[in-house]
Amino acid sequence: MARRKLIYEGKAKILYEGPEPGTVVQYFKDDATAFNAEKKDVIEGKGVLNNRLSEFFMSGLNQIGVPTHFIRRLNMREQLVRSVEIIPLEVVVRNVAAGSLSKRLGIEEGTQLPRPIIEFYYKDDSLGDPLVTEEHIIAFGWAVQQDLDDMVALALRVNDFLSGVMLGVGIRLVDFKIEIGRVWDNDFQRLIVADEISPDSCRLWDIATGRKLDKDVFRRDLGDLADAYTEVARRLGVMPKSGGGTTGPKLVH
Ligand code: TMP
Repeated sequence: MARRKLIYEGKAKILYEGPEPGTVVQYFKDDATAFNAEKKDVIEGKGVLNNRLSEFFMSGLNQIGVPTHFIRRLNMREQLVRSVEIIPLEVVVRNVAAGSLSKRLGIEEGTQLPRPIIEFYYKDDSLGDPLVTEEHIIAFGWAVQQDLDDMVALALRVNDFLSGVMLGVGIRLVDFKIEIGRVWDNDFQRLIVADEISPDSCRLWDIATGRKLDKDVFRRDLGDLADAYTEVARRLGVMPKSGGGTTGPKLVH
């Protein structure tokens, strides 16, 4: 069998050339890393869960008109996505103080923020993905002002969608990170949500108990990461079964 051409291997995913021009196959690994890969482990089943969860969130976004790179899931660990030119920024949206915001500004974790706060981090592992301002982004040419406006609009729409979906299953969306890519439709350039949306890139707290259901379980040694992600998948009705189907009557097509 012909081997697919590898495009890029990251910490949690591998990208292969897709079957048609303009497509990429995104493979979800079981590897978990934190603190710029200083802490690492292999969490059996994490890739399968994140493939399903990212499919669930991205296809929901597509359905409400928020463009994403997601085309379709191929199998337990792979999905077909549009090829994009990734803007080298991590776009973080925060609803509740936690993590680096709490540390940097001395705001107690769990404090509700007065409005969603958007931050940009420059994607560069050798620098530890530093926080940057719009001035840096424009001066160094990572994006232009119109891109920034479009990124903020996309990030807020993703926040509204994800917050609502999570609230519906008793989970508080504390914060999340997205990556955004450029695509060209003929001569027209636009920005779409890319990479993944999963408990690796969100903070999710159970509303009733405060239990953490995201990668902080791994970062802070709070228990079994796969159990936490399985709970998110179960509540959303996207729990993978051995037969490859989904459980849950909640999804309305
Ligand atoms: P932070 O509080 O550590 O800055 O994280 C904010 C959000 O971004 C949180 O939901 C976790 C996510 N995140 C990533 O997806 N990748 C990263 O490398 C980091 C540092 C955070």
